[in-house]
Parts: sequence; C-alpha cells; structure tokens
Amino acid sequence: MLKDFFIGLSQNQFLNSAAKKYGLKMGAQHVVAGTNIAETIESIKELNRHGISCTVDNLGEFVFEKEEALAAKEQILAVVEAIHENEVDAHISLKPSQLGLDIDYDFCKSNIQEIVAAAHKYGIFVNFDMEDYGRLQPSFDLLDELSVDYDNIGTVIQAYFFRAEEDLHKHKNYRLRIVKGAYKEPAEYAYQDKATIDENYIKLIEWHLLNGKFTSIATHDHNVINHVKRFVKEHNISNDKFEFQMLYGFRKDMQLELAKEGYNFCTYVPFGQDWYGYFMRRLAERPQNMNLIVKQVFNK
Ligand code: FDA
Repeated sequence: MLKDFFIGLSQNQFLNSAAKKYGLKMGAQHVVAGTNIAETIESIKELNRHGISCTVDNLGEFVFEKEEALAAKEQILAVVEAIHENEVDAHISLKPSQLGLDIDYDFCKSNIQEIVAAAHKYGIFVNFDMEDYGRLQPSFDLLDELSVDYDNIGTVIQAYFFRAEEDLHKHKNYRLRIVKGAYKEPAEYAYQDKATIDENYIKLIEWHLLNGKFTSIATHDHNVINHVKRFVKEHNISNDKFEFQMLYGFRKDMQLELAKEGYNFCTYVPFGQDWYGYFMRRLAERPQNMNLIVKQVFNK
C-alpha cells in the first residue's frame, strides 16, 4: 500500500516541478550528494578517500521538451569533464528518458552518443540506468547500437521482469549492474512477490558472476551480500570480477565496511535539483526511509 502511495507521488509532475524550485527538502539532502557539480565532486572525493568509487547520476525525470534534454546532456558532459579534471574515481549513470527517449529515439541516441564519446576519450565508463517497462527495449536497443563503436558502456538488469534472464544472457558481455527493480510494474510483465524476485535476483547474479564480464551487485540487502561473499569464495571468483553498489546515504557503515574488507565498492551518487522522483522511489522501496524525514524535522 505505502509502496503504491510513494510510487504514485514519484510520478506526480506538479509536485516534481514544485520540488525543483525549493532546493533539497524533506530529508532529501541525506540521499542526494549536492545540487551542483562542485558540491558533488567534493562528496566523491570524500568517498574515494575511503576506497569507494562512485557512479554519478544527474537527477532528472519527465523530460518532454528537446531543450530540457539538451540541457541535461550539457550538464552530464560537464560532469564528464569534472571527473577527468579532478582525477576522481567515478563514472556516469544516465537515464535515457532524461536525454530525450520519450521525445524521439534518434535524438536521444545522438545525445547519449555525444556523452559516451566524451567519456570514452578519458576512459570513463557510462552506465545506462533502466527505467520502467515501456523504456526497457528501446534502452537495450540504444546500448546495442552504440556498442558497435564504443566499449565503455553497460546497463542494468531488473530481476522482477520475467524477461530478465533472457536479457542477461543476451548482454552477458557487457558490464552489468543487477538490481531487483524499482518501479511499479504490472503482473503481465513482472513478478510481484518479493520472495520470487529475491530468488530470481540471486539466480541472475550467480549466473553473471560465472559467465559474464563484470558484475555490479546493487543492493542494500545484507542477506544477498552475504550470499554473494560465500558464492565467490566457493567458486574462486576474484574480487576484480565484481563490485557491490549502494545508493548514496544508505547503510553508510556497511558501505565503508565492505570497502575495508577489500571488496570493490561503488556508491551511486545522485545530484541536482530534480531530486523529487528519485527520493519518492526510495521511500516506496523502504518506508522506514521516512526516518530520514522525521530526523530532518526534529533536527531543524
Ligand atoms: P530491499 O528493498 O529488497 O530490502 C531487502 C532487505 O535489506 C530489507 O528487508 C532490509 O532488511 C535490508 N535493507 C534494505 N535497505 C536498507 C536500509 N536502507 N537500511 C537497513 N537495511 C536495509 N532500480 C531500477 O529499476 N533501475 C536502476 O537502474 C537501478 N539502479 C540502482 C543502482 C543502485 C546502486 C542501487 C543500490 C539500486 C538501484 N535500483 C535500480 C533500485 C533497486 O532496483 C531496488 O529497488 C533497491 O535497491 C531496493 O532493493 P534492495 O535490494 O536494496 O533491498
């Protein structure tokens, strides 16, 4: 119920535009690294000091105008330059919808290509985040088409989709981030039951660790993390074949601990003014994240 409520809020365009005007509010500053690139680079440097690499996401949703998509492209290109100039250990995560997927496929492709080419020049990896079902196949198409010229790209497999296993097998030669899935999807395409999603999640991770290129295991679930630790040991999979990923601001102690234990660790660092939809999806995943809001109210 609460999940549906927060997912509903995340899709409310009026609240999304209102939130942009008022800066980081409602506890969002605990899970969003900054509103601009300079602040974000400082957050990345701090994580790097602890042996944690970063993937940087310029927040943005509901892009239906070409000007907005072009502005997002410029902002991401500026992030690529800032990563290079500051010599930080970071790469890019982007959302095709922010770069015009809902406007025109070829327009989006050319925006993403520009970013991928700029990042390629500096040896920076670019991850295509996966959004909801309607954008799934076009996002894979963008990836496959751009992979003809670029090898610095990869994407995400969402374990709640029935087709996830087939997509994983098809894309095993990419660096892949494997997640459970964050959007509300109909029973027509996606498992609804948490136990089944968790089971499929483990199955996909194990398969990619044994057969794939490089696996990013993106979860805050300690049971999954402990399972992966045991699995890699049993199968002699070396640490350079995988990493753990978590979102900025979540389970900070565990992030530091995993890095200290010698595992590759990457924090997903969102930044920007368009924080509303991202923040609401985090509340949908785990209503206990409401604690962040409550703390914020009392710490004023
Ligand atoms: P889940 O919510 O299933 O929780 C399992 C258990 O873990 C909980 O019962 C609790 O015990 C523990 N736990 C979880 N969070 C905790 C916390 N904050 N503190 C303490 N305990 C906690 N999705 C998508 O659709 N497309 C994408 O591109 C991405 N990208 C992405 C990148 C990264 C780095 C991450 C971490 C996640 C994503 N996701 C995503 C989101 C993903 O699909 C998923 O919705 C969330 O990670 C929530 O699922 P978890 O596996 O983290 O734990």
